[in-house]
Amino acid sequence: MHIGILTGGGDCPGLNAVIRAATLELLSAGARVTGIERGFLGLMRGRLRPLAAADVDDILEQGGTILGTHNRADPFHDFARGGADVSAEVIACARAAGLDAVLAIGGDGTMDIAARLHALGLPMIGVPKTIDNDIALTERTFGFDSAVAIVAEAIGRLRTTARSHGRVMIVETMGRYAGWIALEGGIAGGADAILIPELPFEPQRLLDFCRQREAEAAPGCDGSTLICIAEGCAPLGGSLTVERTVAGSPDPLRLGGVGERLRELLEPHLQSEVRTTLLGHVQRGGTPTAYDRVLATRFGHAAARLAVQGRHGVMVALQADRCVSVPLAEVAGRSRPVPRDHPLLDAARGLGVCLGVA
Ligand code: F6P
Repeated sequence: MHIGILTGGGDCPGLNAVIRAATLELLSAGARVTGIERGFLGLMRGRLRPLAAADVDDILEQGGTILGTHNRADPFHDFARGGADVSAEVIACARAAGLDAVLAIGGDGTMDIAARLHALGLPMIGVPKTIDNDIALTERTFGFDSAVAIVAEAIGRLRTTARSHGRVMIVETMGRYAGWIALEGGIAGGADAILIPELPFEPQRLLDFCRQREAEAAPGCDGSTLICIAEGCAPLGGSLTVERTVAGSPDPLRLGGVGERLRELLEPHLQSEVRTTLLGHVQRGGTPTAYDRVLATRFGHAAARLAVQGRHGVMVALQADRCVSVPLAEVAGRSRPVPRDHPLLDAARGLGVCLGVA
C-alpha cells in the first residue's frame, strides 16, 4: 500500500502532529508513505518526496507544516494556467506515483477539492484543520485551541494597559465568517464585549455599554472596555470589511480591518481614547497547544487506519469526543457557524458581556 499526504490551504498549529501520527501508523502497517509538497500544487507540478520515520521523528511541536502548503493550488482552477481544469493531470500524477490514496489535511476549500477528486476516481481521505473551527460535521478542528490561547493571552496583556489608561481597547481576531475564535478567546481572556459575525452588532448598544463603563468609573472599574471582535463581523445592515482579494483562491476574500472601522464609529462619541490591535497571523503561528497536539494525533491515527482499511471518500471528524468518519461529499460546500443559541453565548450574557445585540 502506498499513501500520499498533503496539507492544503492556510497552515495552522498541529499539521505536523497529524503528518507524524499518520506516517508512523502507516509505516507500522507496512505501507509506503509519500509527502506531497505545497498542497495540491505538489500533484499539479509533480513535487513528491518519500516520508520515513526519521522525517517525522521530531516534528510534533513544530508549527506550520513540513510539507508546505498553498492557498491557491486548486486542480480545478490552476492559477498559473489561466484557471484551467488540470484535475485529469493531477489524477494521472497520483496514479503514476503509484498512490493508492491521498490523505488531504486542510480546511473547507481542501475538503471541497478532495470530494471532487474522489468523485473523479482518486481515492481521498480528509483530515479537518483550521484555526477557525468552522468545518461542517466535526465539533472541533485542531489549531483552534492554539489560536484561542493566543487571543486569550493578548486580551490579558491588553487589559493591564487598558486599565492603566482608562482606554477602550479593540482586539480583532481571525475566524473568517465564524465567531468561534472571538467567542472562546474573548471568554477565556475576560473581554467585556464580544462581537461575532453570527450576531450582526448594533453600534449604539456598544456605544451605550462603553459610555456606561465610563460613567461608572470607580475603584475597580476605571472606565476601560475590552472589545473582542471577529474579522467577519459587520454592523447590522452593514457590509464585511475586506482587506484584500486573492485572485485564484477558492475563497478569494481576505477579511481584516473591522476593528479599525469600529474604532472610527466609537471614538468620536466617547471620552476615552480607543485603540485597535489586529492580531492577524500570530494566531496561526508557533507551537500547538497540548490539546491540539493530542487532537491532531488522534486525527492522523484515525485517517491512517481508514487508509489501511481501504475506506475512502470520507473525512475524519470529532463527534461526542470520538473520532468518526463522515462522507467528504457531505462536508463539501458547508460550514459550521456559531449557533445563535450556543450555551457560551448565554454564559457570556450571564457574565454581563456585551454581545452588541439585544
Ligand atoms: O482560515 C484560516 C484563516 O487564518 C482565517 O481565519 C483568515 O481569514 C484567513 O485564513 C487568512 O488567510 P491568509 O493567510 O491567506 O491571509
